[in-house]
This record gives sequence, structure tokens and C-alpha cells, in this order.
Amino acid sequence: MKQFKNVVVFDHPLIKHKVAILRDENTDMKKFRELVEEITTLMTYESLKDAPTVQVKVKTPLEETEQTMIKENSICIVPILRAGLGMVNGVHVLFPTAKVGHIGMYRNEKTLEPVVYYCKLPEGIDKKVVLVIDPMLATGGSACDAIDLLKQRGCKRIKLMSIIGAPEGIERVATTHPDVNIYVSTVDRQLNEHGYILPGLGDAGDRLFGTK
Ligand code: PRP
Ligand code: URA
Repeated sequence: MKQFKNVVVFDHPLIKHKVAILRDENTDMKKFRELVEEITTLMTYESLKDAPTVQVKVKTPLEETEQTMIKENSICIVPILRAGLGMVNGVHVLFPTAKVGHIGMYRNEKTLEPVVYYCKLPEGIDKKVVLVIDPMLATGGSACDAIDLLKQRGCKRIKLMSIIGAPEGIERVATTHPDVNIYVSTVDRQLNEHGYILPGLGDAGDRLFGTK
């Protein structure tokens, strides 16, 4: 895959280990859900390392000191429904007060084009760091449309975090939205003729929610 300045691919044995189990067709729904959350937490640690901070005064038992804390109300998570919902708790473990906006989209199975069916975003989202989450970045259509929608609402600091990315999808989002930082734990080989990622993990939504 071409290299992009705005794309970070994680190269960590712990993440690789968990992704390997996630891919396994024998991994059941409960374990799948837990792994999605754990991988998300590990990725969030890195992808929000430039989270807005403030200086605060803290009094230790010995003296007063100036310390760094995460700025209140500065992060917003936006899962792309459905599968993105599986990642929300993984971010909340580290950023428990992050507000959550929802964008509902499904891919038209024939055209592979995303169709928006729901959008509810927190007030003031335009002033926050927005972390769009979706475990699968396949053609990139859903991510691009979600980012477009957020930009129309005035969002300026947008990040996209996906567990598995296809080269086609990463390239599409990275070139369409060069101002958006993209984080993927791994880049897979290719898409098949149905727009599924190979080797991938199958349909993330179905595996998270047991719908197939
Ligand atoms: C999946 C996935 C992404 C999208 C990725 O959702 O969760 O949102 O496909 O594909 P793209 O990059 O080609 O747009 P899906 O349409 O299967 O809906 P679901 O989450 O409700 O199962
Ligand atoms: N959506 C999924 O859930 N899996 C894929 O491989 C591609 C899109």
C-alpha cells in the first residue's frame, strides 16, 4: 500500500495477538465483543495521545503542583452503526465522559454505496475532537460519507479509527480527507467482489450482534 502521512498502522504484538483471535471463525459472539473492546482501548491510547489538555493545580500531601489533565468535554465519539457500537465501551474505558454521536449507515449490497438512515450528534460537536469508530474500513464509502456529514456540521478535528482496513478504503479516505488522521490496527490484502475484506473477519456487525 502507498504510504500516507495521515495514516497510522499499529505494529504491536498485543494488538496483533487479539486481532488474530478476532478473525478466527470459531471465536464466539461474547469473545468477539470483548476483543473488539480490548483492541479499541489499546488503539485509543495511541490515537488520542494529542487529546486537548489543561494545566491544573493539585495539592499533594506535601505541596501544590501544576499538573496536566484531559480537557473536560473535549472528545466526542461517533460510532458508525451498527458495528461501530461495539467499539464505544473500548473508548469509554479511557475517556468515560466522552459524548457519543450516532451515524446509522448500511451498504447497499449491490452498489456497495452507503445509505444514511440515522444521524444524532451532540450539541457543540463542532468544537470537539471527533473520533469516528467503525471496525471495518472496506471500500471507504461509509467512512468518507460519515466524515463529510461531520464536516457539514462544522467539525474540524476528525479522526477515524478502524480495526481492519483494506488498502482501497484507506487510500480513499486518506486522499479524500487528507486532514483526517486514520488509525488502523492492520492493513489486509484486498477486497473481494462483494466488498468484503480478505482475509478480514467476515461481517463485523453480524459477529458482534449474532444476527447470522
Ligand atoms: C460495515 C462496516 C462499515 C462498512 C464498511 O457495515 O461496519 O460500516 O460496512 O464498508 P465500506 O468501507 O465499504 O463502506 P454494514 O454496511 O455491514 O452495516 P452493519 O454495521 O449494520 O452490519
Ligand atoms: N463490512 C464488514 O463487516 N466486513 C467486511 O469485510 C467489509 C465490510
